Amino acid sequence: MLSIENLRVVYHDVISVLNGISLEVKEGEVLVIIGANGAGKTTLLRTVAGMIGFYDGDIIDGDIKMNDVSIKELDSADIMKRYNLTYVMEDRPIFNYLTIDENLKAAAYSRWDNKIKTDMEEVLDYFPVLKPLRNKKAGYASGGEQQMLAIGMALMTKPKILLLDEPSLGLAPLITEELFGIIRKLNKSGITIVLVEQNAYAALNIGNRGYVVEMGRVVLDGEAQELLKNEDVREFYLGAGESKRKSYKDAKRYKRRKRWL
Ligand SMILES: Nc1ncnc2c1ncn2[C@@H]1O[C@H](COP(=O)(O)OP(=O)(O)OP(=O)(O)O)[C@@H](O)[C@H]1O
Ligand SMILES: [Mg+2]
Repeated sequence: MLSIENLRVVYHDVISVLNGISLEVKEGEVLVIIGANGAGKTTLLRTVAGMIGFYDGDIIDGDIKMNDVSIKELDSADIMKRYNLTYVMEDRPIFNYLTIDENLKAAAYSRWDNKIKTDMEEVLDYFPVLKPLRNKKAGYASGGEQQMLAIGMALMTKPKILLLDEPSLGLAPLITEELFGIIRKLNKSGITIVLVEQNAYAALNIGNRGYVVEMGRVVLDGEAQELLKNEDVREFYLGAGESKRKSYKDAKRYKRRKRWL
Protein backbone atom coordinates (compact mmCIF):
# COMPACT_ATOMS: atom_id res chain seq x y z
CA MET A 1 0.00 0.00 0.00
CA LEU A 2 2.58 2.54 1.17
CA SER A 3 6.26 2.07 0.56
CA ILE A 4 9.14 4.19 1.70
CA GLU A 5 12.27 3.64 -0.29
CA ASN A 6 15.70 4.72 0.82
CA LEU A 7 14.37 8.03 2.04
CA ARG A 8 16.77 10.78 3.06
CA VAL A 9 15.50 13.93 4.74
CA VAL A 10 17.45 16.93 5.99
CA TYR A 11 16.32 19.96 7.99
CA HIS A 12 17.68 23.40 7.14
CA ASP A 13 19.82 21.85 4.38
CA VAL A 14 22.29 20.43 6.87
CA ILE A 15 20.70 18.39 9.65
CA SER A 16 20.40 14.90 8.28
CA VAL A 17 17.65 13.01 10.11
CA LEU A 18 16.39 10.26 7.82
CA ASN A 19 19.38 8.43 6.44
CA GLY A 20 18.11 6.01 3.85
CA ILE A 21 15.08 4.58 5.62
CA SER A 22 13.00 1.94 3.85
CA LEU A 23 9.79 0.37 5.00
CA GLU A 24 6.55 -1.06 3.76
CA VAL A 25 2.98 -0.68 5.04
CA LYS A 26 0.58 -3.40 3.95
CA GLU A 27 -3.10 -2.72 3.51
CA GLY A 28 -5.18 -3.67 6.54
CA GLU A 29 -2.36 -4.00 9.05
CA VAL A 30 -1.28 -2.22 12.21
CA LEU A 31 2.34 -1.35 11.58
CA VAL A 32 4.35 -0.31 14.63
CA ILE A 33 7.42 1.91 14.50
CA ILE A 34 9.55 2.14 17.62
CA GLY A 35 12.80 3.94 18.30
CA ALA A 36 14.51 6.17 20.83
CA ASN A 37 13.94 9.92 21.13
CA GLY A 38 15.33 11.69 18.11
CA ALA A 39 15.49 8.57 15.93
CA GLY A 40 13.43 10.32 13.26
CA LYS A 41 9.98 8.77 13.75
CA THR A 42 8.05 12.04 13.70
CA THR A 43 10.14 13.25 10.78
CA LEU A 44 9.16 10.12 8.89
CA LEU A 45 5.44 10.67 9.48
CA ARG A 46 5.68 14.37 8.59
CA THR A 47 7.42 13.47 5.35
CA VAL A 48 4.89 10.79 4.39
CA ALA A 49 2.04 13.22 5.10
CA GLY A 50 3.62 15.82 2.80
CA MET A 51 4.30 18.23 5.64
CA ILE A 52 8.07 18.22 5.91
CA GLY A 53 8.31 21.54 4.06
CA PHE A 54 6.45 23.28 6.89
CA TYR A 55 9.35 22.33 9.15
CA ASP A 56 12.14 23.49 6.83
CA GLY A 57 12.89 19.93 5.85
CA ASP A 58 13.60 18.51 2.39
CA ILE A 59 13.62 15.10 0.82
CA ILE A 60 17.05 14.79 -0.75
CA ASP A 61 16.87 11.19 -1.92
CA GLY A 62 14.58 8.20 -2.14
CA ASP A 63 10.87 7.97 -2.71
CA ILE A 64 7.48 7.51 -1.07
CA LYS A 65 4.89 5.52 -3.01
CA MET A 66 1.22 4.84 -2.54
CA ASN A 67 0.18 1.79 -4.55
CA ASP A 68 3.38 2.11 -6.60
CA VAL A 69 2.80 5.78 -7.48
CA SER A 70 5.24 8.38 -6.14
CA ILE A 71 3.64 10.90 -3.79
CA LYS A 72 6.75 12.76 -2.71
CA GLU A 73 5.97 15.81 -4.83
CA LEU A 74 2.38 16.12 -3.57
CA ASP A 75 1.37 18.55 -0.86
CA SER A 76 -0.38 17.43 2.30
CA ALA A 77 -3.91 18.37 1.16
CA ASP A 78 -3.47 16.36 -2.05
CA ILE A 79 -2.14 13.34 -0.22
CA MET A 80 -5.06 13.45 2.18
CA LYS A 81 -7.65 13.86 -0.55
CA ARG A 82 -6.29 11.40 -3.10
CA TYR A 83 -5.22 8.67 -0.73
CA ASN A 84 -7.33 9.23 2.39
CA LEU A 85 -4.18 9.41 4.45
CA THR A 86 -4.56 11.28 7.74
CA TYR A 87 -1.80 12.12 10.19
CA VAL A 88 -2.51 12.70 13.88
CA MET A 89 0.39 14.75 15.17
CA GLU A 90 2.27 14.18 18.39
CA ASP A 91 0.94 17.28 20.14
CA ARG A 92 -2.79 16.45 19.90
CA PRO A 93 -4.00 19.18 17.63
CA ILE A 94 -7.44 20.14 18.92
CA PHE A 95 -9.19 23.47 19.34
CA ASN A 96 -9.22 24.11 23.10
CA TYR A 97 -11.91 26.77 22.98
CA LEU A 98 -14.34 24.75 20.90
CA THR A 99 -16.55 22.02 22.31
CA ILE A 100 -15.92 18.37 21.51
CA ASP A 101 -18.80 18.43 19.01
CA GLU A 102 -17.51 21.60 17.36
CA ASN A 103 -14.03 20.08 17.09
CA LEU A 104 -15.44 17.05 15.28
CA LYS A 105 -17.41 19.28 12.92
CA ALA A 106 -14.37 21.47 12.29
CA ALA A 107 -12.37 18.39 11.34
CA ALA A 108 -14.83 17.70 8.54
CA TYR A 109 -14.32 21.17 7.04
CA SER A 110 -13.13 19.80 3.73
CA ARG A 111 -16.22 17.61 3.23
CA TRP A 112 -19.28 18.67 1.32
CA ASP A 113 -21.45 15.63 1.82
CA ASN A 114 -24.45 15.58 4.13
CA LYS A 115 -23.35 12.63 6.25
CA ILE A 116 -21.31 14.65 8.71
CA LYS A 117 -23.89 14.41 11.50
CA THR A 118 -24.26 10.64 11.26
CA ASP A 119 -20.50 10.22 11.03
CA MET A 120 -20.10 12.23 14.22
CA GLU A 121 -22.36 9.80 16.03
CA GLU A 122 -20.41 6.88 14.61
CA VAL A 123 -17.13 8.40 15.68
CA LEU A 124 -18.45 9.05 19.19
CA ASP A 125 -19.52 5.41 19.40
CA TYR A 126 -15.82 4.53 19.31
CA PHE A 127 -15.14 6.90 22.20
CA PRO A 128 -17.92 6.52 24.78
CA VAL A 129 -15.99 8.66 27.30
CA LEU A 130 -16.43 11.66 25.02
CA LYS A 131 -20.21 11.39 24.85
CA PRO A 132 -21.05 13.11 28.14
CA LEU A 133 -18.53 15.84 27.26
CA ARG A 134 -19.87 16.72 23.83
CA ASN A 135 -20.84 20.26 24.78
CA LYS A 136 -17.85 20.92 26.99
CA LYS A 137 -14.81 22.85 25.83
CA ALA A 138 -12.11 20.47 24.62
CA GLY A 139 -9.44 22.33 26.58
CA TYR A 140 -10.97 21.08 29.82
CA ALA A 141 -10.85 17.42 28.80
CA SER A 142 -8.18 15.13 30.26
CA GLY A 143 -5.10 14.09 28.27
CA GLY A 144 -6.68 10.78 27.35
CA GLU A 145 -9.93 12.40 26.26
CA GLN A 146 -8.02 14.95 24.19
CA GLN A 147 -6.09 12.19 22.48
CA MET A 148 -9.33 10.38 21.72
CA LEU A 149 -10.76 13.59 20.33
CA ALA A 150 -7.69 14.10 18.13
CA ILE A 151 -8.17 10.59 16.71
CA GLY A 152 -11.92 11.20 16.43
CA MET A 153 -11.20 14.33 14.40
CA ALA A 154 -8.96 12.30 12.12
CA LEU A 155 -11.79 9.81 11.65
CA MET A 156 -14.07 12.61 10.45
CA THR A 157 -11.83 12.80 7.36
CA LYS A 158 -12.70 9.16 6.55
CA PRO A 159 -9.14 7.86 6.44
CA LYS A 160 -8.07 4.63 4.79
CA ILE A 161 -4.65 4.97 6.35
CA LEU A 162 -4.09 6.64 9.70
CA LEU A 163 -0.67 7.74 10.95
CA LEU A 164 -0.59 8.04 14.74
CA ASP A 165 2.35 9.75 16.43
CA GLU A 166 2.77 8.55 20.01
CA PRO A 167 -0.89 8.50 21.00
CA SER A 168 -0.04 7.12 24.46
CA LEU A 169 2.28 10.00 25.37
CA GLY A 170 1.61 11.07 28.96
CA LEU A 171 -1.37 8.76 29.43
CA ALA A 172 -1.88 6.45 32.42
CA PRO A 173 -1.50 2.71 31.63
CA LEU A 174 -5.23 1.99 31.89
CA ILE A 175 -6.13 4.81 29.52
CA THR A 176 -3.42 3.65 27.13
CA GLU A 177 -4.93 0.18 27.20
CA GLU A 178 -8.37 1.58 26.43
CA LEU A 179 -7.00 3.75 23.63
CA PHE A 180 -5.10 0.87 22.07
CA GLY A 181 -8.24 -1.26 22.24
CA ILE A 182 -9.98 1.44 20.21
CA ILE A 183 -7.10 1.59 17.73
CA ARG A 184 -7.43 -2.14 17.25
CA LYS A 185 -11.17 -1.75 16.63
CA LEU A 186 -10.52 0.98 14.06
CA ASN A 187 -8.14 -1.36 12.31
CA LYS A 188 -10.73 -4.13 12.32
CA SER A 189 -13.15 -1.70 10.68
CA GLY A 190 -10.75 -1.53 7.72
CA ILE A 191 -8.37 1.34 8.49
CA THR A 192 -4.68 0.66 7.97
CA ILE A 193 -2.72 2.00 10.93
CA VAL A 194 0.85 3.23 11.24
CA LEU A 195 1.56 3.52 14.94
CA VAL A 196 4.67 5.34 16.16
CA GLU A 197 5.20 4.60 19.83
CA GLN A 198 7.60 4.82 22.75
CA ASN A 199 5.34 2.40 24.54
CA ALA A 200 6.69 -0.53 22.59
CA TYR A 201 5.02 -3.21 24.64
CA ALA A 202 1.47 -1.91 24.27
CA ALA A 203 2.02 -1.07 20.61
CA LEU A 204 3.56 -4.39 19.58
CA ASN A 205 0.76 -6.17 21.36
CA ILE A 206 -1.82 -4.72 19.00
CA GLY A 207 0.49 -4.60 15.97
CA ASN A 208 0.98 -7.05 13.14
CA ARG A 209 4.54 -6.06 12.24
CA GLY A 210 7.09 -3.63 13.53
CA TYR A 211 10.21 -1.69 12.62
CA VAL A 212 12.91 -0.47 14.97
CA VAL A 213 14.38 2.85 13.84
CA GLU A 214 17.70 4.25 14.98
CA MET A 215 19.39 7.36 13.66
CA GLY A 216 17.08 7.61 10.71
CA ARG A 217 17.24 4.07 9.45
CA VAL A 218 15.68 0.71 10.11
CA VAL A 219 17.85 -1.56 12.24
CA LEU A 220 15.39 -4.37 12.79
CA ASP A 221 11.99 -5.45 11.56
CA GLY A 222 9.69 -8.39 11.90
CA GLU A 223 6.38 -9.76 13.10
CA ALA A 224 5.22 -7.91 16.22
CA GLN A 225 5.17 -11.09 18.29
CA GLU A 226 8.74 -11.90 17.21
CA LEU A 227 9.92 -8.40 18.13
CA LEU A 228 8.35 -8.75 21.57
CA LYS A 229 10.59 -11.78 22.11
CA ASN A 230 13.71 -10.23 20.57
CA GLU A 231 16.51 -9.82 23.10
CA ASP A 232 17.59 -6.34 21.98
CA VAL A 233 14.05 -5.03 21.76
CA ARG A 234 13.36 -6.40 25.22
CA GLU A 235 16.43 -4.75 26.63
CA PHE A 236 16.17 -1.33 25.01
CA TYR A 237 12.50 -0.80 24.38
CA LEU A 238 10.72 -2.99 26.86
CA GLY A 239 13.07 -2.45 29.80
CA ALA A 240 13.23 -6.17 30.43
CA GLY A 241 16.95 -6.77 29.98
CA GLU A 242 19.38 -8.11 32.53
CA SER A 243 22.04 -5.57 31.70
CA LYS A 244 23.10 -3.42 34.66
CA ARG A 245 24.29 -0.59 32.45
CA LYS A 246 23.02 2.72 33.64
CA SER A 247 23.43 4.66 30.44
CA TYR A 248 20.81 3.78 27.93
CA LYS A 249 22.75 5.45 25.14
CA ASP A 250 26.04 3.69 25.87
CA ALA A 251 24.32 0.38 26.08
CA LYS A 252 22.57 1.06 22.84
CA ARG A 253 25.73 1.97 21.01
CA TYR A 254 27.51 -1.05 22.31
CA LYS A 255 24.73 -3.37 21.23
CA ARG A 256 24.40 -1.74 17.89
CA ARG A 257 28.05 -2.25 17.14
CA LYS A 258 27.86 -5.78 18.34
CA ARG A 259 24.75 -6.91 16.54
CA TRP A 260 23.63 -4.65 13.81
CA LEU A 261 26.73 -3.24 12.16
N1 LIG B 1 12.16 21.43 12.31
C1 LIG B 1 13.33 20.90 12.69
N2 LIG B 1 14.49 21.54 12.45
C2 LIG B 1 15.67 20.98 12.79
N3 LIG B 1 15.83 19.80 13.40
C3 LIG B 1 14.72 19.11 13.67
C4 LIG B 1 13.41 19.62 13.34
N4 LIG B 1 12.49 18.72 13.73
C5 LIG B 1 13.19 17.70 14.29
N5 LIG B 1 14.52 17.93 14.25
C6 LIG B 1 15.57 17.03 14.73
O1 LIG B 1 15.49 15.82 14.05
C7 LIG B 1 15.80 14.72 14.90
C8 LIG B 1 14.68 13.69 14.82
O2 LIG B 1 13.52 14.27 15.37
P1 LIG B 1 12.12 13.52 15.36
O3 LIG B 1 11.17 14.42 16.03
O4 LIG B 1 11.81 13.04 14.01
O5 LIG B 1 12.46 12.25 16.28
P2 LIG B 1 11.48 11.24 17.01
O6 LIG B 1 12.00 9.87 16.72
O7 LIG B 1 10.08 11.53 16.65
O8 LIG B 1 11.74 11.57 18.54
P3 LIG B 1 10.73 11.54 19.78
O9 LIG B 1 10.65 10.11 20.21
O10 LIG B 1 11.42 12.38 20.81
O11 LIG B 1 9.42 12.10 19.36
C9 LIG B 1 16.02 15.30 16.28
O12 LIG B 1 17.40 15.38 16.50
C10 LIG B 1 15.38 16.67 16.19
O13 LIG B 1 16.06 17.58 17.01
MG1 LIG C 1 8.42 12.11 17.71
